[in-house]
Amino acid sequence: MSVFLGIDVSTTATKALLADATGRVVAVAASEYPYDTPRPLWSEQDAALWWTGATAAIRAVLAQAGLTGADVAAVGLTGQMHGLVMLDEHGQVLRPAILWNDQRTGAQCDAIRARVGRERLIQLTGNDALTGFTAPKILWVRDNEPEVYARVRHMLLPKDYVRLRLSGAYAMDVADGAGTLLVDVRRRDWSAEVLAALDLPRAWLPPLFEGPEVTGRVTAEAAAATGLKAGTPIVAGGGDQSAQGVGVGAVRAGIVALTLGTSGVVFAASPMPVIEPEGRLHAFCHAVPGRWHMMGVMLSAAGSLRWHRDTFAPEQSFDALVAPAADVPAGCEGLLFLPYLTGERTPHPDPLARAAFVGLTVRHGLPHLTRAVLEGVACGLRDSFELMKAAGLPPVEQVRVSGGGARSALWRQILADVLNVRLVTVNTTEGAAYGAALLAGVGAGAWSSVDAACEACVTVTGEVMPQPEAAAAYEPVYQHYCGLYPALKPTFQALA
Ligand code: XUL
Repeated sequence: MSVFLGIDVSTTATKALLADATGRVVAVAASEYPYDTPRPLWSEQDAALWWTGATAAIRAVLAQAGLTGADVAAVGLTGQMHGLVMLDEHGQVLRPAILWNDQRTGAQCDAIRARVGRERLIQLTGNDALTGFTAPKILWVRDNEPEVYARVRHMLLPKDYVRLRLSGAYAMDVADGAGTLLVDVRRRDWSAEVLAALDLPRAWLPPLFEGPEVTGRVTAEAAAATGLKAGTPIVAGGGDQSAQGVGVGAVRAGIVALTLGTSGVVFAASPMPVIEPEGRLHAFCHAVPGRWHMMGVMLSAAGSLRWHRDTFAPEQSFDALVAPAADVPAGCEGLLFLPYLTGERTPHPDPLARAAFVGLTVRHGLPHLTRAVLEGVACGLRDSFELMKAAGLPPVEQVRVSGGGARSALWRQILADVLNVRLVTVNTTEGAAYGAALLAGVGAGAWSSVDAACEACVTVTGEVMPQPEAAAAYEPVYQHYCGLYPALKPTFQALA
């Protein structure tokens, strides 16, 4: 049997997935681990956890499928983006990795804008400096841990550390690379200008590859640790967002992937880089060779509903909590929810932003509050669609919705109505690990291109059409929603 192995090095677990040459998922296994918050706003993880997680997950998935390493034709890697792994000349890790959700680097973001020029930075990298991205983390180590910085010889992202352990090769894909803020997105290579402005050595950075390109082969030592066969090719893969895009077939213009997980992501593929002039959307390279994607990230999407349930109805299932909200009219009789429970990234990159229910009266009960949460998250996601439209992204034909929140039929309908767009569900529900397996398959020659892989493997399973009446009712609701953040911002700052 010939299968492709996708490995997703996420923040909470490393997941291994096997797919066969028809795209069928053969087996999935995961090995979980914690992450540390040693101080408020900090978020770190020991890179060794990813390697032990990967070896455990690979062994488990092979056992589950009843296969051996010899059955695996190629490996594809994906994982949490932006995390900074610093290594010395021997490839030894120098400090815990600083993760994507770490917020300590506000001063370094300001320094980057000052050194490169904010406009020039957005033009070159497609993005403004955000605390989550990698470059400000490097400057933070330089500013605060000079003894560590002096020993740095290599820098990698989380999944590329696993690649190093698997193959001995320092390499990175250009999609994940773009999330460092050091890549010239148009040229799909490290930006000499940004590196010079930040005084960072090019020699520390690995070569960049396109998603399906082979970056190395499993070493004998890694074969012994994982059960894979020595010599198995490893493709570049992609950061979790671009791999997730591949996994649901969001690989060409017009198809948008909307992921309703703890965070909410709006992901649109594009044949050219489309850069939002204020950098309010991320513009990254895609894991598809020669393509790009724009992305809006909302920090508390399904996370808002979880908070709501845990706080107001901990004894209820999500289904039981959501059911009565179907009887509340669109707009919740004047109740709005602003979903910034953990600050926000798109469209307001503001860690001090806070959540709010606005417009409460004695008429409003729990079903109103629930529906307001569903609608508020939908409005927050619409913000990303509006920014994409204004930035000149090709028109949206179809939105492919996935993630835990998308299991709710009511939430899917509210999304279709608030966005006024056709939503579809697809057969592939394993996310980034599945996309990484498809990229491995392309690298191994099972499909001629990423497009061909997606056409062969991803099919539409259902659709939700917007209801004209509800869509019209949501227009003023969305306008009122848009007014909330500017009105409340001074209060949020004062409270913080
Ligand atoms: C993307 C991002 C997150 C992490 C989480 O920009 O920060 O999706 O990759 O895994």
